[in-house]
Amino acid sequence: MPDGSQHQLHYLTISNREALQSIYIESLLQVNINETDLISGVYEGGLKIWDCSIDLVNYIAENPNICHSKSVIELGCGQGLPGLLCLTNFNAQYVVFQDYNKDVLDNATKKVIEMNSQVDLSLLQQKYQLLAGSWETLCKQRQDFQGKFDLILMSETLYNINYYDQLVQFIDLCLSNEPNSMVLIGTKTFYFGLGGGYFEFQKYLDTNWKGKFRLEVVKKLNDMKSIERLILIMKRQTEIEMISQDLASNTLEEQIEKSDFMLSF
Ligand SMILES: C[S@@+](CC[C@H](N)C(=O)[O-])C[C@H]1O[C@@H](n2cnc3c(N)ncnc32)[C@H](O)[C@@H]1O
Repeated sequence: MPDGSQHQLHYLTISNREALQSIYIESLLQVNINETDLISGVYEGGLKIWDCSIDLVNYIAENPNICHSKSVIELGCGQGLPGLLCLTNFNAQYVVFQDYNKDVLDNATKKVIEMNSQVDLSLLQQKYQLLAGSWETLCKQRQDFQGKFDLILMSETLYNINYYDQLVQFIDLCLSNEPNSMVLIGTKTFYFGLGGGYFEFQKYLDTNWKGKFRLEVVKKLNDMKSIERLILIMKRQTEIEMISQDLASNTLEEQIEKSDFMLSF
């Protein structure tokens, strides 16, 4: 585990070649598996440990109350280290591990959870669930998830802007309306070649979900070797926040007119 974390989690080290070979046949896909991390719509990179999942583990270790007694879902979990830490070390009520690829959940996530379990596996199994499928499909299939989760975790899921609609729709379905519920996100500011990242996601929310969600940078990580990484918190926007934001964007005369109008109630 990385610097700063006293919580030693065991994980699997799988190369891109092994990952893709273990799931799919190279010749069938006609890709050079030495040169790719993922194949869009087929295998989305879940077998490998990505940098921001380590950042998220460290952030949770520094702020353990964030998941204490909470219902948690980790979206695009891959090996699922952040969700695992909540489950095994910080007493989350239960954790759902979601990934696009069922093979990832069966061959990696489940193994990693079992490798790290400090209690009887049958006890642990009562507190977690593996869930395969795209966010788009799950939105339709899992209406029972409506408002079910206090904490949504995700690391390195903002790389592809084409997935933002289905991702945020699924978040909107899952996230509880309680004021403390939140999405804790580990992401790079920008993903070369794919176009997504923090800047694009912020722009997307401003354009498509204005007044519904707010996004805040709570930590910046810059090791000078790679692109800047961030920890973000995304929350539902309250009505009071919406009104004050609305007021702030108006001229002084409009603000006075609006506040007079509100006072008259
Ligand atoms: C780059 S990997 C990150 C894996 C892991 N969270 C980490 O940081 O190590 C992206 C993850 O998002 C999931 N994912 C990508 N697109 C998805 C989609 N449309 N629906 C559901 N899951 C998706 C993939 O299954 C994959 O595990």
